[in-house]
Amino acid sequence: MPLVGAIDEGTSSVRFLVFAAENAEVLTYHQIPIKLIYPKEGWVEQDPIEILEAVRECLSQTVVNLQQLTIDPSDIVAIGIANQRETTVVWSSITGEPLYNAISWMDMRTADLVDDILSNTINSNNNNEIYLKELSGLPISPYFSALKLKWLIDNVDNVKKAMLNGSLMFGTIDSWLIWNLTGGINGGAHSTDVTNASRTMLMNISTLQWDPTLLLFFDIPYDILPQIRSSSEIYGHIQEGLLKGVPISGCLGDQQSALIGEMCLQRGQAKSTYGTGCFLLYNTGETIVKSNNGLITTVAYQMGPKSRPVYALEGSIAIAGGVLDWLKDNLNMLDEIKDCEKIVEQIPGDNRIIFVPAFAGLYAPYWRKDATSIICGITEDTKKSQIIKAALQSVCFQIRDILEAMEKDTGLTLTKLLADGAMTNNQLLMQMQADICGIPIVRPLMSETTALGVAMAAGSAEGIKKWDFKIDTTVPSDTFLPSISDNDRDILYSKWKKAVDKSLEYQQ
Ligand code: G3P
Repeated sequence: MPLVGAIDEGTSSVRFLVFAAENAEVLTYHQIPIKLIYPKEGWVEQDPIEILEAVRECLSQTVVNLQQLTIDPSDIVAIGIANQRETTVVWSSITGEPLYNAISWMDMRTADLVDDILSNTINSNNNNEIYLKELSGLPISPYFSALKLKWLIDNVDNVKKAMLNGSLMFGTIDSWLIWNLTGGINGGAHSTDVTNASRTMLMNISTLQWDPTLLLFFDIPYDILPQIRSSSEIYGHIQEGLLKGVPISGCLGDQQSALIGEMCLQRGQAKSTYGTGCFLLYNTGETIVKSNNGLITTVAYQMGPKSRPVYALEGSIAIAGGVLDWLKDNLNMLDEIKDCEKIVEQIPGDNRIIFVPAFAGLYAPYWRKDATSIICGITEDTKKSQIIKAALQSVCFQIRDILEAMEKDTGLTLTKLLADGAMTNNQLLMQMQADICGIPIVRPLMSETTALGVAMAAGSAEGIKKWDFKIDTTVPSDTFLPSISDNDRDILYSKWKKAVDKSLEYQQ
């Protein structure tokens, strides 16, 4: 029976899952957590070698698992990679070694650089953040790779030297993994896919090529960039370990992969993935919809070099699950993240606390890197359970912000929202989400949609074709219906909006 593997490289862990191509069942997986490194306030890094070694370990451990299940690992016909997007890696083509830690998508070190650019960039609307949006689909923000890469070239001697001697290589995590697994310094493929490239701010959203104007704007040389390819084709074959010879034939940003895994393949369908951040993608078909309300235009997928690209509007939220990690690790308010549901359930009635967790500023629809985190409404009676509840509610309010922006951009109201990702195990969060947005929240019982999407891309690539998109991946789901009145919902949301105003006003 043909099997398809999926590497799911997220912000906080690496996983490798194996699916049966005939029915999309997960047969086994292995997962390893990945550390975040905080060298200075606002700086967030990861070790590219730790990520690569974790991938290698997950691949071999999963093969052992298969053997224990008496399943033949040589039945794995293809592997796909779904990865955290924007996170920037630079390495040497001569030694294969990284020249710096990976700079995480959440990193804010380029905030001043953004200010410089904005003050020198005047466009006719006087709205400088959108100066490059026509070309890239994105606002100028520390979130995207271009500024991280520029910072590395300007501030790290080894990176500059490698650029001058022609050995510098740049990639997002997908490129770093594909290059290493397909041979590294011995001929590894330096590739990325259109979805990951669309998050660098260097790719033209219409031509799907590196854009000369954007490269010139950020002063980035063309020859350090990976080749942009579709999301479903053979990029190369694994050259090491127990899976040597298996083709890598799927590559997608993790959020785009979840869109496919949730089967949002029709224009007008949307999903939200609750991980470290939370990302709501709305399929706009083959049309590039430009947002006037703070959303990003991004490539959703391109299922093969000859297929037409499909686009999405995206609402990106920097801090979702990350706020619970903060309560656990920095304030010791939680022993385990999973405890928060029980703790919050004990709070009777309403919560007066509003928490705006703007640790990386506020992304969509505000795009304010200077937004400050605030907790409003604390009294001498405030309990930690109320802070935890406010943290959960902050995720739901941010999703409502995005839905309102999407409605303005598309003129359409979503009748339901598909939800996936680690946080969706929290029933209470799902119910709060339905209450705050006033629409049903649909959660698939099969939660591996991120891995599933890229497995589908890998298994259906030209030269593989073992995955039939007609397989019924519409798994059973739970639905959470709104349970409060429109009036209560609006009162609650207006408190959030006031707190966001304070967060935007407050200057540290
Ligand atoms: O854009 C960043 C995003 O891809 C990270 O996803 O699942 O690691 O929070 P996640």
